Amino acid sequence: VASEDEPDIVTEPLYFRPAARLQRFLGRELIADPNLAIGEFIKNGYDAGASSVRIAFDLLGREHPSQQVLRISDDGVGMTFEEFRDNWMRPGYSEKAARQTASPNPAARTARQRMDARLPIGEKGIGRLAAGRLGDVLHIWTRKRKADPWLHIPFDWNDFTDMNTPLDEVEINADYEIAPPTEWPETGTIVEIRELSLNWTGRVPGRRVAGRPSSRMARLRQDLELLLSPLEATEQAFTIELSTDWPEHKDLTGAVVSAGLSLIDYRYDFELTWDDERGVRVHSEIRRAADLARDLDINPTTRMTAYYAPGTALASEDPTSHPGALASGPIRGTMYYAARKGTGRRMQDLGIQPGVRVYRDGVRVEPYGDPEDDWLGVQARKASRQGYAAIRPNHLSGYVAISKVSNPELVDMTNRQGLVENQAYDEFGAHVRAEFRRFADLVFDEFVKPEWARDEDRATAIAQRTATHQDVLIRDIVHELRQPVSSLGSEIRNLDYVIENSEIPDQTKAQLRQIRARAGGHVDRIAKVVREALDGPVTTEIEPVSIQEVVDQAVESVAEIATSTGTTIEQGIDDRTVIARQVLLRRAISELLRNAIESPRPTDADRVVRVTSTSRNGTVVITIQDNGEGIDVATAAGLFEKPISKKGRQGEGLIGVRNLLATFNARARLANPGEAGARFEVVIPSMGELRRNLR
Ligand SMILES: Nc1ncnc2c1ncn2[C@@H]1O[C@H](COP(=O)(O)OP(=O)(O)OP(=O)(O)O)[C@@H](O)[C@H]1O
Ligand SMILES: [Mg+2]
Repeated sequence: VASEDEPDIVTEPLYFRPAARLQRFLGRELIADPNLAIGEFIKNGYDAGASSVRIAFDLLGREHPSQQVLRISDDGVGMTFEEFRDNWMRPGYSEKAARQTASPNPAARTARQRMDARLPIGEKGIGRLAAGRLGDVLHIWTRKRKADPWLHIPFDWNDFTDMNTPLDEVEINADYEIAPPTEWPETGTIVEIRELSLNWTGRVPGRRVAGRPSSRMARLRQDLELLLSPLEATEQAFTIELSTDWPEHKDLTGAVVSAGLSLIDYRYDFELTWDDERGVRVHSEIRRAADLARDLDINPTTRMTAYYAPGTALASEDPTSHPGALASGPIRGTMYYAARKGTGRRMQDLGIQPGVRVYRDGVRVEPYGDPEDDWLGVQARKASRQGYAAIRPNHLSGYVAISKVSNPELVDMTNRQGLVENQAYDEFGAHVRAEFRRFADLVFDEFVKPEWARDEDRATAIAQRTATHQDVLIRDIVHELRQPVSSLGSEIRNLDYVIENSEIPDQTKAQLRQIRARAGGHVDRIAKVVREALDGPVTTEIEPVSIQEVVDQAVESVAEIATSTGTTIEQGIDDRTVIARQVLLRRAISELLRNAIESPRPTDADRVVRVTSTSRNGTVVITIQDNGEGIDVATAAGLFEKPISKKGRQGEGLIGVRNLLATFNARARLANPGEAGARFEVVIPSMGELRRNLR
């Protein structure tokens, strides 16, 4: 039973009726970055077949942004009144979206021919909204032929603030009366923005960004330099010019030259294509600067090809591994790395901006490669190396090229802040990151790692040198101890004499003997420690050493025993520089001198030791000659080989001499076995011989 009071159900078709202020919101907020907003008009000029786009600021005498004017003019195809009405006046509509093919035509002369030769960048029909980001008032002049009058269309975005007025009820009145503000171009489009929202003489607020200038105009210039791919730019016959009348901007005006890219140390090219049978084919090529290749002793070029079977998982242990799918379509790219010291400066001089950027059909897709955007994980990679960066982010530059035609799944976000995150984008990122890592690992293995090794060697050498200094210091202290220790020994013998020859009560005498015995034990121990310290292993640098200096030191070190034994030491040194370990050479000579001083003399004649030196066949020979008994032939045979027990330390001493001298390829020998007055020679090789031996 139907209810009697059933309500009337009436519907009619529904339509969006955007309020006027929607236009205002979108214009002001959709494209946040003012430089990107300016880029939108450059792209439109490019799409219109312009040979040039000129950006001009009127700033002089206009401190306040509301007085400042920005003009973006192009010599493209221009628009008729009807075209303007049907295209420009319909936000979200883009006739370009249908034009998805182009054939490069280097012979193109007219705007129309150039337009047909270029693949349009525009597709969404929203670029025009960017005007609202830059200023409150917009005037457009456009015409297609010189014979036509200029069509002038003024907009005041303040007319679009009302939420009660529908967008399509705000009236815009075009005219053919008002003349354009500039002589150039003769045909094309002039976009003039007034009552600017930013002060273009100022600085960008907020904290400084490394690699980015803080002056707003300098930053615009930097972005413009990166807008066009370094590859395609030359083929396109398209220039961008920047002019401003603000005196401080003098260096920023003029033709914008695309930021350079050039091979300083490394260049890495990669290309990813799909092979129906084998999956993703990755072909890459690394090129090294000629002098770097020579230094590293590597071929300047290395080529690699790898395949990743269809369906291979995205995640893999190996960071250089690729997913086995290429939903993004083919990708190619080039990265440069300046590896050697001082190359950061080189990059600056060459106008190379760090960062690996993405270009679609020759035009930049922001923000990939910006100083703050780490889409390749370069910073992360650096961090994971715990300070040892294979790749210093500031030394890496390059680009990845994609195309609307071959990479249809890689689409811009409407706010122009990157690509829409979808399956194709995820794969695209994974592929490029894998290639970056392959490149980074290569540079790491062949350049960075050996460089560290060199640094580590250097560090070790410094540590060793420090250790050597300590060694010398310890030896000096020990050396100083020798004399007082031996004097203590004499004093204890004096004590013996006093104890035995004095009138002391027996009990006291016994106590004194005990004390003397203990003291003697202590002195013996100290003496032993001193001796051991002197004989212990020492490392010192191999360095140029003066014979005279080292002999003086050695003579000085035995002066004490020479005096106590009444021995005269005579010197006849022909000073030469040898390559030796100074401290060790001194100790060897000291030891030989001590032996010479102590060797028994046949008569009570004067005790004499002579130290002389000569050069012989490039070697330097130091001779230590005494006037003692000499060494018989049998003893001489094993002199430097085994300790001679009857003379105790002396024999051990000669083995020490041999070992000390061996550390710098010098040696000692007895020159006159069986003769009276032993003559020992220390033979030190020449520099050339030493170098040969050390190699
Ligand atoms: N400088 C120009 N010369 C000639 N025609 C232009 C120019 N600027 C804009 N137009 C016309 O106005 C339309 C609107 O430009 P707009 O930038 O909003 O959209 P688009 O370039 O088509 O797409 P996108 O939003 O991706 O940039 C263009 O499609 C083009 O028809
Ligand atoms: Mg556009």
